[in-house]
Amino acid sequence: MSEAIRFILNGEEVTLGNFGPTETLLDYLRLRRRLTGTKEGCAEGDCGACTVLVGRLTEQGLRYESVNACIRFLGSLHGTHVVTVEHLAGRDGELHPVQQAMVDCHGSQCGFCTPGFVMSLYGLWLSNGEPTRADIESALQGNLCRCTGYEPIVKAAEQVSRNRPSSLFDPLERDRIQIMARLWAIHAEVDTIVVEKDGARSIVPASAAAFADILAEEPEATIVAGATDVGLWVTKQMRQLDPVIFINHLAELQSVTADETGITIGAGVSYTQAFDVLSEEIPPLGRLIDRIGGQQVRNMGTIGGNIANGSPIGDTPPPLIALGAELTLRTHSGRRTISLEDFFLAYGKQDRLPSEFVEKIFVPRPAEGSHFAVYKISKRRDEDISALCGAFNLTLDGDGKVAKIRIAFGGMAATPKRAKHVEEALFGQVWSWGVISAVRDLFDEDYAPLTDWRATAEYRSLTAKNLLTRFFLETAGQSHELRRFELEEA
Ligand SMILES: Cc1cc2nc3c(=O)[nH]c(=O)nc-3n(C[C@H](O)[C@H](O)[C@H](O)COP(=O)(O)OP(=O)(O)OC[C@H]3O[C@@H](n4cnc5c(N)ncnc54)[C@H](O)[C@@H]3O)c2cc1C
Ligand code: FES
Ligand code: FES
Repeated sequence: MSEAIRFILNGEEVTLGNFGPTETLLDYLRLRRRLTGTKEGCAEGDCGACTVLVGRLTEQGLRYESVNACIRFLGSLHGTHVVTVEHLAGRDGELHPVQQAMVDCHGSQCGFCTPGFVMSLYGLWLSNGEPTRADIESALQGNLCRCTGYEPIVKAAEQVSRNRPSSLFDPLERDRIQIMARLWAIHAEVDTIVVEKDGARSIVPASAAAFADILAEEPEATIVAGATDVGLWVTKQMRQLDPVIFINHLAELQSVTADETGITIGAGVSYTQAFDVLSEEIPPLGRLIDRIGGQQVRNMGTIGGNIANGSPIGDTPPPLIALGAELTLRTHSGRRTISLEDFFLAYGKQDRLPSEFVEKIFVPRPAEGSHFAVYKISKRRDEDISALCGAFNLTLDGDGKVAKIRIAFGGMAATPKRAKHVEEALFGQVWSWGVISAVRDLFDEDYAPLTDWRATAEYRSLTAKNLLTRFFLETAGQSHELRRFELEEA
């Protein structure tokens, strides 16, 4: 067992054995290292002022991703390369082309947000040589600017990708091979790490098996994957956590595979890692992921964490329940598989023993010829939590009757939940406007939503009914039934 984590910070290798389990990367950078180019705005992953890049070794090579340093714990950095804005300028102080483009395009006024924007643009510049406007907007979803406005910043991103200078200028491109070798050397020492400070422990297991053993011994430990939920328990609720088990480095939990039956997603797979496969295999899930948090949150947050947190408003459980997803839970002594809908028992209560962890999620492919849709309703398109999120999975038989339907909603009850009354009423019926209008009100039997600052109960109830209507209209297409609906409405 070792007692320190190792990572590279800009050009320097760091061995760190004196930090608490909830110490954030942002505090470490600003308070301990005086790297104050990285700013603190919201301290909850929303504004992007604290954006840094974290590079890690993947099957595709060394990959740099933008993350929110304010909710990233030090314990999750073992074997990574942390890059802050200070690393960008040339040795003679010359600005990096990304920074120069921000100057040229007037992308900064008060400047508080600017280092964060620069790091997000830099992450995009490294990973995408020819970004579209949509790619640029997506990369900036998690960055907030109160004074400049976004157009000059988008122009800066376009300018720097148009006039791409020699990559020799760039420190990460230039040193890529050397950095990979240094990271491989860190990973070559496979050992569980336990760092203790003031009696509180950060545990970085060497493998998934080691994780299972540690959890059996420490069932009250807090598991941290991407920390996009747990980070806020610390920065907003000031909770002290001890011990904390960090799992975001465990390669065994990070595979996404697709076969003819469905897609298997390891519990440690981030939204970004899952995006390409899900977009290709089940496109509505890809479109949903593009609306979760900002790029930094998607680079850190996991689907496993979105399920395990048991939130009634998590975005992935409703579509996954509608698709009939299954969850594999693992302990040191074995595994069990349950349907995802059975995992959610009551508000804040899931079917998971303290010694169990979520290992993977299996998502069956929608049946051939079926219709699947998911609708996220929130106040803003980007970077916003759902007021409600509804998913519909429908198979019609040859007579246009409902052969199979699963409807699941988040934001409508204490847990993500199926609309079983509505489903039963639709089963065997012709998929027609008459039937839809007759069953709409059965949502009131399935759900008694709450009023909160996101939406009123009445709004939620009406919206759920209207989403069924929308799903009907989208699936009925230009059929006879749809034309009749239009005539009746007129
Ligand atoms: C700015 C911002 C925007 C966000 N936007 C959205 C949004 O649009 N939609 C949405 O649904 N969510 C959103 N979230 C919430 C969050 O990003 C998601 O819930 C995310 O999926 C959590 O995953 P994580 O890996 O970060 O979990 P963590 O924070 O690491 O953990 C969350 C919970 O799951 C447990 N856990 C994690 N992994 C496992 C495991 N393998 N086994 C057992 N328990 C485990 C942890 O102990 C903890 O209780 C947002 C968060 C932020 C900060
Ligand atoms: S300080 Fe706002 S996202 Fe980190
Ligand atoms: S320049 Fe002031 S917040 Fe962006």
